[in-house]
Parts: sequence; structure tokens; C-alpha cells
Amino acid sequence: MKMKEEHRQRRERFMKMISNSTAVFRSSPVAIMHNDVEYPYRQDSDFFYLTGYKEPEAVAVIAPHHDKHQFVLFIQPENPDQEIWTGKRPSVEEAKEVYGADEVFLITEIDEKLPQYLENADKIYYHFGRDRAFNEKVLRHWQLQINKYPKRGKGPIAIQDSGTILHPMRMVKSRAEIDLMRKAIAISIEAHTHARKTIRPGCYEYEIQAEIEYVFRRNGADSPAYPTIVASGPKSCILHYTENNRQLRDNDLILIDAGCSYGYYPADITRTIPVSGKFTPEQKAIYEIVLEAQKQAIAKVRPENTYQRATETAVRVITKGLVELGILSGDVEELINEEKYKPFFMHRIGHWIGLDVHDVGLYQKGEASKQFQPGNMLTVEPGIYIGPDTQPAEGQPGIEEKWRGIGIRIEDDVLVTTEGHEVLTSALPKSVDEIEQF
Ligand code: GLY
Ligand code: MN
Ligand code: MN
Repeated sequence: MKMKEEHRQRRERFMKMISNSTAVFRSSPVAIMHNDVEYPYRQDSDFFYLTGYKEPEAVAVIAPHHDKHQFVLFIQPENPDQEIWTGKRPSVEEAKEVYGADEVFLITEIDEKLPQYLENADKIYYHFGRDRAFNEKVLRHWQLQINKYPKRGKGPIAIQDSGTILHPMRMVKSRAEIDLMRKAIAISIEAHTHARKTIRPGCYEYEIQAEIEYVFRRNGADSPAYPTIVASGPKSCILHYTENNRQLRDNDLILIDAGCSYGYYPADITRTIPVSGKFTPEQKAIYEIVLEAQKQAIAKVRPENTYQRATETAVRVITKGLVELGILSGDVEELINEEKYKPFFMHRIGHWIGLDVHDVGLYQKGEASKQFQPGNMLTVEPGIYIGPDTQPAEGQPGIEEKWRGIGIRIEDDVLVTTEGHEVLTSALPKSVDEIEQF
């Protein structure tokens, strides 16, 4: 199916859910790198999900109750002076055709044109985002409508976050979305595999990063989906380390957390491997615990099961494993209840993944809130990190020097299916034997 048709179907479903209301979406603001140099532009994910439109300075209005225009785009005017720098932007006519909008206006007309889409709505759906000036504009338009309410007896009497409707939709991935993520994953696996061949003592983390990102781009990926992490030795204990400037040493582990974005969809993959090709006994002992925690947590990913249960499973394996190594001491259940494992495993088990790497969806504790449904995608990424300065929890034994500097995370991207799950990143080896024999 062509993406234009997929976007239309998404709007159709969204419109059914908001029925007599109007939703307003704002494009992402342009982010400044320095002075007049901008970061590469990326559209707001909600905006993109419903429209496919990638340009800044835009507004999308979805008004299912309107007699003529259910989908309206406001876009930037053509500007030959600016377009010398940016390239040509779609005209009103082109936008209508390419994005299937019922009407397209210039963004400069918004104050004049927006009221007709609000005045008969029961509610406004809008997400208060990073564009403060536009947030205020929406409030002002709402106020104008409220002021007219006593005489008209109709109009929007509330604003509701559009995410409450749209984000549950985004949590269930379509075939087209899964295909894009499979592509991002295939490129990312190639990148990890290629980079592994270049790892040797004496080289720098940034050299490995360059090899990874070269493979991304060579395969037509948009960019890294998040800052690439190449963390060796003690740096592997810094969760979002991105300096990537340390020199690799023989007995180091190297943690590589890297994934590309392809067609706006990410991969997010972590592998931790020994620089020399062989784990030390201590590294191997910790690695086996993390791997077991990850496998058991993944086994819990199936419809009707919960994110909470997957998390608890990983926590139990990690706590038990650390007790067996003497790093934690006491009764496993008590240690779990008192969160004594937290100095070593301090982040959550994973996150939803989709148009945003850390995707929309609920993350709060509790059973019902996070029941897996077919089409959900998440990462499963437990870790154990024993940094140079890690302090044990109160009442726990001191940490022996031999464990310090070991940071291990293993991360896969998992799709919930009707039968259970599919590990989309499974082609990238992670067992000790496979890694040592690479
Ligand atoms: N790469 C960031 C994360 O794993 O969440
Ligand atoms: Mn992740
Ligand atoms: Mn990651």
C-alpha cells in the first residue's frame, strides 16, 4: 500500500474516534545548532504519523464534522529567496495533491481560517508541545470560541491532549511500519557486524562509531536514530555515554548501543563484547546473568502479559545472579523488595519503540496499564553496571575490585505477535560462544 493511502486510513480511524471534535497538530520547531545554522529538520512524530508531511512551519487540522474539509494543511508560503538555500518547498496545489488534503492554506492565514474548523466542534484535541507561541495561539482561539458560546450554544468547551487518542493508535504498528523497522534493523545489524571486525586494542571508540555510521548512511539510512554509544572499559557503565573518545585496551569490554533511522523508523540495538575476543571470567559471569535476564524477560513478552511482569522477571534473574557471585548478600525476595539491586541495574527493562525511539505509550507501574497487544514493539535491554565509583546499597558487602569497570547491556527489539513475540534483532549473535567465535 502506498504511504499516502496508509496516512489517509490513519486519519480515517482517528476521525472516527474524535467524532464531533477538531484536532490541531503543530509541526516541530526548527532547532538551532548555533547562530543561523540549524539541526537537520525532523517532523513531529504525531504530525508525520497522520500526514506524512515533513516540512516545518505547518499546522494540520482534522475536523471530521466539517461539511467540506476534514483534513486541512497550513503550510509555508513559497519563498524564492529562502528556497535558494533550502530547495523548493511544496506549493499549495502540490501539497493538496501529494498529501491528500481537502484544503491547503498558507500558515499566514491561520488566524483567519482556523475558527471555521473550531466553531462547531465539541472539543479541541491538541498536544501542548515545544512551540510555546503556538500553544498560546491555540488558547487564544479557544478563548474566542468560548466567548461566543453563550450566544451560539455550541463550540468547543474543552481541550483534550490529542495523545490520549492518537498514542494508543501509534502503539499498534501497521505492516508498513514494521517493514520500515525491519529495514532499519537489517542495516543496523550489518553496521554492528561490520564494526566488530574493526575492533582491536589501541583503536579509539570514535573509529568504531565511524564504521557503524558509515554503514548506516551507505545503506540509505536517514541518520543514527539516537547518538551512537561506543563505550569501552569503565565507560560502559555510563548509560548514555556519547563522547566515544577512549582508546580500547586488551581486557576491556566494549558496549555498542547503535541503531539507524530509516524512513523515520528506528532500530535500537546493544551488544557488549570483549575487545580481545574472549571474556575474562568476571566479565563472562556478569554477561551470563544479563543474557539470562534478557532471555527470560523476552519470554514474558506475549499478549495479555505485562511490561511489569517482564521487568520483575529480569530483576529476579539479576538479583539472584548477583547473590550467587557474592556481589549482593541476603534473601533474594527481600533484596528485590528493598531494591538492593538498583546500584547495578538502575534503568527500566526497556521502552516502546516506533516513530520515536523512546516511543509514546504508558510507562507507569501497574498491571493493566501495560498489557502487551499484538503489534506493540518494545526494546528489552537489561544491564548490570559496576562502575569505578558504584557504591553498594546500605547493608550490602563492599564491591571487590575485580568486578569494577564491567558494564554490560544486551538490547533487542521485540514485536508482540498474536502467538507471542518475534525478536526482530535476533540475527545479531549474543551468546558467549557466538561472540567468542566471531
Ligand atoms: N539507545 C538508547 C536506549 O537504549 O534507550
Ligand atoms: Mn533502548
Ligand atoms: Mn539502545
